[in-house]
Amino acid sequence: MSYASGRHFLQIPGPTNVPERVLRAISAPTIDHRGGAFGRFSSELLESVRDVFQTSSPVVIYPSSGTGAWEAALVNTLSPGDSVLMFEVGQFSTLWADLARRLGLNVRFVEGDWRSGPAASEVERILTEDTGHTIRAVGVVHNETATGIATNIADVRRAMDRAGHPALLLVDAISSLGSMDFRHDEWGVDVTIAGSQKGLMLPPGLGLNAIGEKAMAANKAARLPRAYWDWQPMLAQNKSGFFPYTPATNLLYGLRESLAMIREEGLQNVFARHDRHAESTRRAVRAWGLEVVSRDPGQYSSTVTAVLMPAGYSADEFRSVVLDRFNMSLGSGLGKVNDKVFRIGHLGDFNDLMLAGTLCGVEMGLAVAGVPHRQGGAAAAMEHLTAMARQAHESHVAVR
Ligand SMILES: Cc1ncc(COP(=O)(O)O)c(C=O)c1O
Repeated sequence: MSYASGRHFLQIPGPTNVPERVLRAISAPTIDHRGGAFGRFSSELLESVRDVFQTSSPVVIYPSSGTGAWEAALVNTLSPGDSVLMFEVGQFSTLWADLARRLGLNVRFVEGDWRSGPAASEVERILTEDTGHTIRAVGVVHNETATGIATNIADVRRAMDRAGHPALLLVDAISSLGSMDFRHDEWGVDVTIAGSQKGLMLPPGLGLNAIGEKAMAANKAARLPRAYWDWQPMLAQNKSGFFPYTPATNLLYGLRESLAMIREEGLQNVFARHDRHAESTRRAVRAWGLEVVSRDPGQYSSTVTAVLMPAGYSADEFRSVVLDRFNMSLGSGLGKVNDKVFRIGHLGDFNDLMLAGTLCGVEMGLAVAGVPHRQGGAAAAMEHLTAMARQAHESHVAVR
């Protein structure tokens, strides 16, 4: 296509739109990462980043993608041949299990249909049957980005407690942190895994681990080989704000800014905004007569909505029409749902009008691509957005 005027709509579920404030912060001159100014800056950052995890535990930040942070969580807590319990909810949970196998772990992978997440009762049953406590960790993806399915981590924790099982709880919060309620401490998560390019509104390039006390203790006995990902040299250097190797200095400037933005909006307001946009999107999907992938309303994601294409229609062709005609990127179907699903990302630096524009683009794209649907999805979403905005306006007027 020739020159595309106006703003590109980046509606994939990460990397997300990077706000101007963050771009400006990243553009500051790079400084000496072994100098005092950097040490003071990152000491503060390593403290303040804990808030978004709702934890008082240490958080380490790697120059890496989320996959690196996955590997770090495993190699720092487990030993060769250890058993790990994982659940198939979509492509990312599948990839994490593959990675664990390649590290020499024994993965007990509970197969799923990519339309629902693990039931807490299933977690409880498997762990109760594991009377010898051979399972050393339970790995759960909080928000499966490929299918838009969220797992209730508090429920998983309670199931583990009911089973009286000592396994570690490792949680991938890569596409939920900073967008959906996530409570590392309250939910008794042992390691939380995150990345920069989703709710934290940064470019890709930072991988994070929040490390609970039990995980720290497990680290002492864990024997999987590790070097780059080793928590200990990282934590030792982090005490004075430094890193054992060159950190992604400019992305860290960006992180300070994005955390400030989240603080200014208020974490609870950030969560409510994502919930509102997700609910509006689902109303649009239903009005179009299409189907959301997640079967269980209790497991809807607030950051991404995966939509099933009507049988016989190509999701990729539809996405390319939307890109060519309306300059908007939608997420593709990954793995088993390749070409069968498209995904609408509604996370990060995002507001009501951006969502309205996104849904108008989807609706127009469905018409141009000749995909059978009913009109009125964008209008249904706007109705919900309007009702929520009216409520907010009335309560604002009432307190004035
Ligand atoms: C839930 C989830 N886990 C893991 C990953 C892998 O992260 P990365 O691609 O940054 O390595 C992603 C990427 O989108 C993801 O959404």
